[in-house]
Amino acid sequence: MERVKVLDKEFVLSISEENILKAVEEVATRINTELEGKNPLMLCVLNGSFMFASDLMKRITIPCEISFVKLSSYQGTGSTGKVKELIGLNEDITGRTIVLLEDIVDTGLTISNTVDQVKSMGPAEVRVATMLFKPDACKKDITLHYVGMNIPNDFIVGYGLDYDGYGRNLRNIYTLAE
Ligand code: IMP
Repeated sequence: MERVKVLDKEFVLSISEENILKAVEEVATRINTELEGKNPLMLCVLNGSFMFASDLMKRITIPCEISFVKLSSYQGTGSTGKVKELIGLNEDITGRTIVLLEDIVDTGLTISNTVDQVKSMGPAEVRVATMLFKPDACKKDITLHYVGMNIPNDFIVGYGLDYDGYGRNLRNIYTLAE
């Protein structure tokens, strides 16, 4: 079994690039069918989603735009607890169909927060496309319209996901070794 070391930790291969790309293809096919004529604006939530966004966009065949946003490291306190502010969105999204591109939904707090902030800007519709979803970790009742793969509640790296900033460049996905 292929192993990699990222900083001080050992990881083992869990999802090959080939299987990742099959899942991306399936998400793209659904978006191409369901959002035809809607001219969607894809919003890639940095940093982790860059690889998923790139592979997905290569497979989108309908007219669409992409923009890149980030959640600030600043944490204010809102009614739901700690809220990270969405930054980098300069477009007017009024009346637009938005597709948020996420690398992974774990507890669901980040995406639920992001969806709320985007909805407050007046789009027609907000959909979520995530490459990975950890159903056993999710604490929020959220709608994930497009999910590449469901995965167990283990820590992973690769395909854009990091361990302490490293490992994002790995083509496959690796799980923390026991
Ligand atoms: P959530 O708010 O708990 O859903 O977490 C979402 C964010 O946590 C993702 O956008 C990732 O940046 C990070 N994250 C969650 N699980 C993992 C993992 O297994 N490896 C690396 N980063 C992760």
